[in-house]
Amino acid sequence: MNLSNNTILISGGTSRIGWALGQALLKLNNTVILMGRNQQKLNEAHQAGFETISCDLSQQQEIEEASVTIQNKYPHLNMLFNNAGVQHNYDFTESVIPIHKIAQEININVTGQIILTQLLIPLLDHNQNAFIINTTSGLGAFPKSDGLVYSASKAAMRNFTVGLRYNLKKNGICVLEFMPPVTDTNMTAGRDEQKMSADELVKHIIPQLRKEKKILTIPKMRLFLWIAFFFPFLAHKILSGPEK
Ligand SMILES: NC(=O)c1ccc[n+]([C@@H]2O[C@H](COP(=O)([O-])OP(=O)(O)OC[C@H]3O[C@@H](n4cnc5c(N)ncnc54)[C@H](OP(=O)(O)O)[C@@H]3O)[C@@H](O)[C@H]2O)c1
Repeated sequence: MNLSNNTILISGGTSRIGWALGQALLKLNNTVILMGRNQQKLNEAHQAGFETISCDLSQQQEIEEASVTIQNKYPHLNMLFNNAGVQHNYDFTESVIPIHKIAQEININVTGQIILTQLLIPLLDHNQNAFIINTTSGLGAFPKSDGLVYSASKAAMRNFTVGLRYNLKKNGICVLEFMPPVTDTNMTAGRDEQKMSADELVKHIIPQLRKEKKILTIPKMRLFLWIAFFFPFLAHKILSGPEK
């Protein structure tokens, strides 16, 4: 993949991962559009040389409006990173979770991204060197017991990514998966785990993106994927931590 002179949209661009990715791509001489809701962060992004677009991915009308704006303002869009995400941690089996909380997690992590992708495919199809990159998680390969809805949403995005890859082969649009390890962001704030910085993560990812690796991730996550596939009981042990 040529990593210069692209027009790139990153949802979840106001997150540390999306921002670090955007900065690296901006330095490589691309037009980078960061999408998010946090207006203060979007203003900062504008000051830092990014294009910005506000959109709540849980609201279909906002997604439709954003896609029209993108088509009019950025007709050369050729790369879409579906990177927004929310994670609620709770034990699904111990209390009744309000439907709106479950729906919100699914809407932002899955439905909104699928709608945005579908609306932007005609534009991507029109342009050369077109890519869709979906941010998933190791929890999409093996679920964490206090994050079942999040894990299920990421499993859905993994499945969607594979299906879309085959579907869009005829159009010449390349579909990749981006699987961050535990990274130091708002999502993992307060978690007592070893975390990678978003900048370090992006340093690993950029060369893999250039090579169009199907799964963009770090070696530890590739090992986890292998363990999850062949030794699920071990994956469960890794995610549950040491017995207390
Ligand atoms: N951090 C990790 O350890 C880790 C590991 C594996 C995968 N991931 C994935 O990496 C991606 C980035 O996560 P992060 O860790 O950087 O999380 P984060 O810091 O919590 O950021 C979440 C991002 O999603 C956006 N977002 C949330 N709700 C939204 C909505 N309704 N509409 C539009 N955008 C919305 C936020 O934008 P606004 O606040 O501006 O709305 C923000 O940019 C996610 O897909 C996450 O699942 C993270």
